[in-house]
Amino acid sequence: MPYPSNKRVFSGIQPTGVPHIGNYLGALKQWINLQKSNNTCFWSIVDLHAITMPYDAGTYKTKVLTTAATLLAIGIDPEKSILFVQSHVPAHTEATWLMSCQTKYSELQRMTQFKDKGENQASVSTGLFVYPVLMAVDILLYQADLVPVGDDQVQHLELTRTLATRFNNTYNHLFTVPEPYIIKEVARVMSLKDPAKKMSKSGNPNDAIFLTDSQDEIQKKIKTAVTDSGSTFDPDNIGPALKNLLSIYIAFSGVGVEETMEKFGGKGYATIKNDIAEMLIEKLTPIRNKVRILLDNESSLMANLQLGARRANEVAQKNLREMKSRMGFTQIS
Ligand code: AMP
Ligand code: TRP
Repeated sequence: MPYPSNKRVFSGIQPTGVPHIGNYLGALKQWINLQKSNNTCFWSIVDLHAITMPYDAGTYKTKVLTTAATLLAIGIDPEKSILFVQSHVPAHTEATWLMSCQTKYSELQRMTQFKDKGENQASVSTGLFVYPVLMAVDILLYQADLVPVGDDQVQHLELTRTLATRFNNTYNHLFTVPEPYIIKEVARVMSLKDPAKKMSKSGNPNDAIFLTDSQDEIQKKIKTAVTDSGSTFDPDNIGPALKNLLSIYIAFSGVGVEETMEKFGGKGYATIKNDIAEMLIEKLTPIRNKVRILLDNESSLMANLQLGARRANEVAQKNLREMKSRMGFTQIS
């Protein structure tokens, strides 16, 4: 299917650590394709979202810079796309307050991510509760048509659509009502150790393959990944662990589904894992090397982020002013 073009696109990634292959296949690969196919793209490192859970201030700057370097290394072009850090654009926090006054408490209570992450509701931060409102304004401030995300974000996108429509109905049409952009097959890459859980940055590091993992790490993690019962692969009876490993193989290598089934049918799990590890090493080593070079030149990395912030601020400020004007605020120029 051809990629959409001539759209405004927004997406965000939390700087909670180096992105993993789940982030890449579920979201970041689509970022690159959408950038290539002539869209106006806004990509944000959402540092305000990532402080909604306990985090370490001492290593936070490194995490933000590593995330930025990884995005550049996989092919985000700061000239073509607008790549910026969320906290460098103050309109996001201000608009969140305005929008939170349009959001029902019960709507936020229903968010499954809040229910999952905020199990102990008495001690969880208010920020985690308001998180989906911040995410909604991220998108709306740029009038995005499309939002490429993994399927864990669909509920947040639904709320964004609800809030945009409510604002438009109450204060006269202002916001574009955005659509999610999801590639089904890889919308959820699962943990290597437990194929019932999604691969995540914050779990056990052996559950995930990070885009900057070394050859040895990749080999070890794939070797120790869980498999289904038996010891050889039967394409007519695919279990969840092999399904996950093979979807990773198919999505990364670009080899077709049928060809992959033929190649691996009847093969032992150890052989299959070896091939998957080699393919991943070949694809990820250039990314790892680029990230290292980019991180060695912090001033150039910061200059890219400054350029992105300047361009993002222009758009966001304009829409924030319009939002306040519709809501009846007095404004000084
Ligand atoms: P996060 O790291 O939570 O900010 O996620 C960044 C993007 O990656 C979002 O669009 C998520 O939906 C997507 N994502 C996160 N984990 C996975 C996963 N295991 N499989 C597919 N997509 C994912
Ligand atoms: N909540 C998203 C996640 O955890 C990150 C995010 C924040 C985002 N703002 C966004 C994604 C706006 C898409 C659009 O993955």
